[in-house]
Amino acid sequence: MRLRSVSNLISRGGTILGTSRSAEMRTEAGLKKAAGILQKHRIDALIPIGGDGTFHGAVELSKYWNGQMVGCPGTIDNDLLGTDYTIGFATAVHTAVDALDKLRDTAESHERMFLVEVMGRHSGYIALYTALAGGAEVIAIPETHTDVPAIVERLKSLKARGKRSIMVVVAEGDESGGAINLDAGLKEAGCPFETRVILLGHLQRGGSPVPEDRILASRLGDFAVTALDRGARGVMAGDVRGELVLTPFEQTFAHHKAVPENLLEVLRTMAS
Ligand code: F6P
Repeated sequence: MRLRSVSNLISRGGTILGTSRSAEMRTEAGLKKAAGILQKHRIDALIPIGGDGTFHGAVELSKYWNGQMVGCPGTIDNDLLGTDYTIGFATAVHTAVDALDKLRDTAESHERMFLVEVMGRHSGYIALYTALAGGAEVIAIPETHTDVPAIVERLKSLKARGKRSIMVVVAEGDESGGAINLDAGLKEAGCPFETRVILLGHLQRGGSPVPEDRILASRLGDFAVTALDRGARGVMAGDVRGELVLTPFEQTFAHHKAVPENLLEVLRTMAS
């Protein structure tokens, strides 16, 4: 790669390098092979960009390779500790909110309820931000108990108050098993609305990044390179309350990153 290799990348989604969930990198032989390739090409520093799997891999790789690594958080899930936001999260939320706005038109015209499933294997971050920004009435996320009979009671009272449309945002990792299962459960419990289910899936992982992501990626990328120059290793660059910070890889996935309780409260108020 040369300087020109990255020309005009800022407006593109995905990665020009390619990526994979590599089973080989989970084996000692695979890690040794990766270390050998890095040595052969005389690569002395890496900037791994990804989520918990990537940083897990980086920790393992450092057992076989002595180069420097400073990572950047790149996952739509926003589930890494050591940064308030991960690169890709804002774009994913933007796409999901756009979908909600469009679905609301049919919901309102036909007096329907839509269950919209968003990504986030173990995290309700995308669901919470999407629900708030899209004015959803109900949310189902792994961080809170999804009480089907209570939801149906609320739906009945919203219907009685003349509500024509309902948006339910479901995180794929919710304990209900996702939007299709939750739909079945709500119907069985007497849901008063006609329903439709939409799985947004990988639509949320592509497309031109929104300005927040472009700016975050530029700031963190710049910070990661500076940190490498200064000798940092085994850490991820992050933004915590506007400050650029470095966090050891192991700490970025040490435990579940809780969704902000105050935002859940705002959602409850707005939806009630
Ligand atoms: O980890 C990021 C993520 O986008 C999750 O939200 C989602 O569950 C998963 O990746 C999808 O992975 P795959 O593309 O391998 O199906």
